[in-house]
Amino acid sequence: MKKETQCVQAGTLKDNQYQGLNSPLYTSTAYGYMDKEEVCYPRYFTTPNQGAVVKKICALEGAEDGLLFSSGMAAVSTTILAHTRPGDHVILLDDLYGGTHSMATADFERLGLEYDFVATSLEAIMAAQKPNTTMVIIESPTNPLMNILDIKATADWARENKITSLMDNTFGTSINQTPLALGIDIVVHSGTKYMGGHSDVCCGFALASKKKMQPILDLARHLGGSLDSFAAYLLERSLKTLAIRVERQCQNAQALAEFLEAHPKIVKVNYPGLPNFPGHDIAKKQMKLFGAMMSFELDESIGDVDVFLRKLKVIHPAVSLGGVESSICSPKDTSHKPMTAEERARVGISDFLLRLSIGIEHIDDLKEDIEQALT
Ligand SMILES: Cc1ncc(COP(=O)(O)O)c(C=O)c1O
Repeated sequence: MKKETQCVQAGTLKDNQYQGLNSPLYTSTAYGYMDKEEVCYPRYFTTPNQGAVVKKICALEGAEDGLLFSSGMAAVSTTILAHTRPGDHVILLDDLYGGTHSMATADFERLGLEYDFVATSLEAIMAAQKPNTTMVIIESPTNPLMNILDIKATADWARENKITSLMDNTFGTSINQTPLALGIDIVVHSGTKYMGGHSDVCCGFALASKKKMQPILDLARHLGGSLDSFAAYLLERSLKTLAIRVERQCQNAQALAEFLEAHPKIVKVNYPGLPNFPGHDIAKKQMKLFGAMMSFELDESIGDVDVFLRKLKVIHPAVSLGGVESSICSPKDTSHKPMTAEERARVGISDFLLRLSIGIEHIDDLKEDIEQALT
């Protein structure tokens, strides 16, 4: 089946009693165990509604197995903990999602893990390799500068060196890129973003082969970060429109990036779909569409980014991303606030940079909103 069809149909639970088209919602937390091979229990990650969503995502990501978590960070942290041991060395990209970044700086030492942050390039990753390197954690596109990493080349290098490759595919989405097919070992998602898509469900996924998922499942049952059936049901409903939502979001993003690039009050636009963006050629090779996240720098004549943000009427200043509604934030005041101004400048995050998550509104309304706020 094609992705659009998988979104609608994969994993749907059969309603044998009434032949309803949607998966029935099973709210029980206690299920019979006699004559059953596997016991249903929410924290065992085995309820019917959890299973329905996992089947759909496995189909979309081309994964043999997967787990649905109660947040993206539950998926990320459980996966890292399940696949590392004290004494291991982990390589992470400098511009990984802030929560993953701060898990490394706050918790790795205590867990006996060594780590190095590197720039978003395979050369930088290779240069950081040590004899005890066992894991590399990557994203592409990255937040907020949309840096692009060659996923297949990184996966090949990791496999040759017996290093577990872990990729956060939240920004790319399962619609635009499938890292497992490019050789990545484990994929994680914040489902809170595009998969939920309506800014009302917090969830996450880990996806991999059965063999790689087993230690994640074993640990997940101890850590307990499972999702309840109501949220799983809501998520399944949202996923039916994932392909169509993401396609419209990407089309809007491409048009808006071109509009911003031509605007005299915009200094720079970071969007992989722009032909002169440094990662464009690699992105074209590994992505279907170029995603719906971008960042741009306002001209300093604006005075302060808040002046611009307060004038917006359609695009909402908000943290989080990936919803049907367009949202915008200033990294210096949100995701990258814990960094010093010098550190931000070093990685290319200026005080005039804004990160934009494009929704499904009409493109003319988005352009007009930005135009009136710049005037
Ligand atoms: C790329 C990425 N990964 C992981 C996460 C963490 O997800 P959650 O907030 O659902 O725990 C986020 C959240 O913003 C994210 O943007």
